[in-house]
Amino acid sequence: MIILSIETSCDETSVAITNNGREVLSNVVFTQIAVHTIYGGVVPEIASRMHTEKLSELTLAAINEAKIAFEDVEAVAVSYAPGLIGALLTGVAFAKALAFSLNVPLIPVHHIRGHIASCYITFKELTPPFICLIASGSHSHIVKVNDYTDYEILGATKDDAPGEAFDKVARLLGLGYPGGVKIDKLFSKGDSKRFKFPKVTFKDNPYNFSFSGVKTNVINLVHNMEQKGEEVPVNDVCASFNQIVAETLVEKLHLACINEKATKVAICGGVSANSVLRKLALDTFSKDNITLYLPDLSLCGDNAAMIGCAGYYEYKAGNIGDMYLNAKSNSPIN
Ligand code: KG4
Ligand code: ZN
Repeated sequence: MIILSIETSCDETSVAITNNGREVLSNVVFTQIAVHTIYGGVVPEIASRMHTEKLSELTLAAINEAKIAFEDVEAVAVSYAPGLIGALLTGVAFAKALAFSLNVPLIPVHHIRGHIASCYITFKELTPPFICLIASGSHSHIVKVNDYTDYEILGATKDDAPGEAFDKVARLLGLGYPGGVKIDKLFSKGDSKRFKFPKVTFKDNPYNFSFSGVKTNVINLVHNMEQKGEEVPVNDVCASFNQIVAETLVEKLHLACINEKATKVAICGGVSANSVLRKLALDTFSKDNITLYLPDLSLCGDNAAMIGCAGYYEYKAGNIGDMYLNAKSNSPIN
């Protein structure tokens, strides 16, 4: 089944063509980072305008790259929630128009379900059930994937998402936006044991996260040093911060896997590109004979191929939308 899929939830405009979920025929991604960098973060209004400007061009590019014709498209899938409401609306409106004009079904896809599907594209053999950590710029969840469209949330962030913490710490240190990649690159140059930032635990749910505390600790440390006229050891701060975030994510995920007796675990979302997190997870899970699935780096960030893959399974489960489909800035994965 050929699906044309659309992703516009934040600052990546993307259109993809997938076949039967896991085969990617094209995945065109236009990143707006260069524009948002000037402002130190995503400006929602600019993001929406750029999506609108780019969607037609990227759709044609995706069709051409996949070497198909519009008549070959059997359904249109779109990321409708969660995300920046204006940005999502551009994709939803475009997808509705396209599905209507091609007279094919419209498939609403939850963005986080899309991130999980990035693992299905990378690993053709991966099937539910498994435990999945989704760590991105706006989400961190530990989810039990019971089936392709059946999810159970085990834990989630109570405040900042990990990517958000990366971005804010990077901004504080003058590294620019987006911060994750920049901090990741500095890890090998710094001493990750120099600063001991706290790990937050929740008594009621050991799988919940909090990243605002570690972010505030970094801010206080940097401000104290600046006030004393000391030079801030940026590499050591970045390495120590990255280490604590990676440890927090992997430890909670590991605990969930042990308690749930999982044999398969996946990590996805923008932060899953983090080299420290990937290495720590590989080391941790290989010791327990739990198979770890990490998506290809090209699929960690927002892209439409993952929406097409998730859309295929939504379609098979009968989750079809109509012309009343609306975007939602917030919506639980389950
Ligand atoms: O999944 P994503 O592309 O968008 C959302 O759905 O939020 O995630 C973007 C986030 C940003 O906060 C970015 O800083 C972070 O992923 N990120 C990373 C890395 N690459 C991207 N964080 C840590 N290390 C990286 N290598
Ligand atoms: Zn995302």
